Amino acid sequence: MSENSPQPPFPTRQSNRDTAITRAMQSVADAVPRAATDPQRPRYHFGPPANWMNDPNGTIYANGYYHLFYQHNPYGDVWGHMHWGHARSRDMIHWEHLPIALWPSHELGEEHVFSGCASITADGTPILIYTEVGLAKDGKQPPNEQWAALGDADWITWQKHPDNPVLDLKSHGGPDFEDDWRDPFIFHEAGRTFLVLGGNVDATSAIALYEATDGTLANWQYRNIIHATDRAAVRLSECPNFFAIENEAGGKDWVLLTSPHRPVDYEVGDFDLDTYTFKEATKGVLDAGHTPHVTNAHYYATNIIHAPDGRVILLGWIRGFPEGHGWNGCLALPRVLTIGPDRQPRQNPIAEVEQLRGRQITFLAQELPPTTTIVATALEASVEIITHLRIAAGHSMALYVRASNCSDPSLAITYDGTLLSIGETTIPFTLEAEEPLQLRFFIDRSAIELYVNDGRAAITLVQPMPTTLVDVEIDAQGGNVELLDFTAWELSQSWV
Ligand code: FRU
Repeated sequence: MSENSPQPPFPTRQSNRDTAITRAMQSVADAVPRAATDPQRPRYHFGPPANWMNDPNGTIYANGYYHLFYQHNPYGDVWGHMHWGHARSRDMIHWEHLPIALWPSHELGEEHVFSGCASITADGTPILIYTEVGLAKDGKQPPNEQWAALGDADWITWQKHPDNPVLDLKSHGGPDFEDDWRDPFIFHEAGRTFLVLGGNVDATSAIALYEATDGTLANWQYRNIIHATDRAAVRLSECPNFFAIENEAGGKDWVLLTSPHRPVDYEVGDFDLDTYTFKEATKGVLDAGHTPHVTNAHYYATNIIHAPDGRVILLGWIRGFPEGHGWNGCLALPRVLTIGPDRQPRQNPIAEVEQLRGRQITFLAQELPPTTTIVATALEASVEIITHLRIAAGHSMALYVRASNCSDPSLAITYDGTLLSIGETTIPFTLEAEEPLQLRFFIDRSAIELYVNDGRAAITLVQPMPTTLVDVEIDAQGGNVELLDFTAWELSQSWV
């Protein structure tokens, strides 16, 4: 807990659902006024009413709503006392906060409710499956178990499953995982239901595959390890997501996302249902955003939603905000994830984001002079900007955002033909001959997202930004930079 966090009224070894949730929600309500006064708090990125959030959990579309559950500490703005917060939305932009869904049942020996997924049983009951972290016994942490909770028809009130654990290391039928064995993620294929989990076995950090043996989703059979990484390289592959995306050729690309205590890794390849094996064709980093000495990944712990129109929506936690402001953590803008013919991912914000657009400012196409050109002044600080620039071979440019009437830039994006940088993150990025550079970025107080050339790269950044008016300028750094277009939109707040 940080010094500023209210102390939870522990110990609560006999808490039942209602008292645990009432107490937790009161603690969140008490922190709301403080969180609301922080000028750096994002205005259109989703966050809890107050206090801490990390991973998006149990993300699913059901009965006309997108449901978002999330790792939540109701008792402070740092990690701890893991509960599941809950919100729902019709458009993934405007969210309605709902009561806390899951709480640690101390009377059942539960210390934390870790990450997991949502599904619907064969009889139509909403189900959440998550990792239970037990209370230490005799100073020893029990191994993780996978537990479930059953919901009412509106997905609002949850009860722990009578058959918990639904999956444990004593009976799972697979190899001897060590104690960390967590973050179940459900997917469906060929009318069958599967679940993946991340865990450590022998010298590897592995992704294990299980299959539901009946429609209750409370009985699982071990199938195989579909992916393994040397533990010298990855401490634990957290939050695995494994799913198929239909490609333009009418086939399927299988995607594995893992959060390995650094930026999220992707692998794209083929899944063989007969042998339960995954063969990767391409791999890389999904969103390289990081700030050394603050966090090694600003975008982390992904999850997905299958939207009713067929889109695969990628969700991720933005992390690396300072403590002590009554809130910490938010959800990145939901992204449409597609796989290109090169079997590389493309990430683009959902079109629904455009509802936030307000006043629009454009700047005329032109060959930029060799020094700096101011392309927008006195913009409200919450903005979306799209610009295309043609940069002659061997030349470079820098785009700066600064508080109006302030000479020091708050944000710099630079490109030199091979390297693209924002903040302290630099990635290799090359363009075809004559291909313009497209920058699309969102500034929402201290949360910033950059998308490059139709989502071929995405970078998330956390850093303090001006909170009133900003100017944008482009430095052609000697010339040979053509501005093809520049549009900025002031964005309205969506939920605060
Ligand atoms: C990832 C993670 C998960 C875990 C959860 C706990 O950020 O460490 O592996 O379930 O957060 O809050």
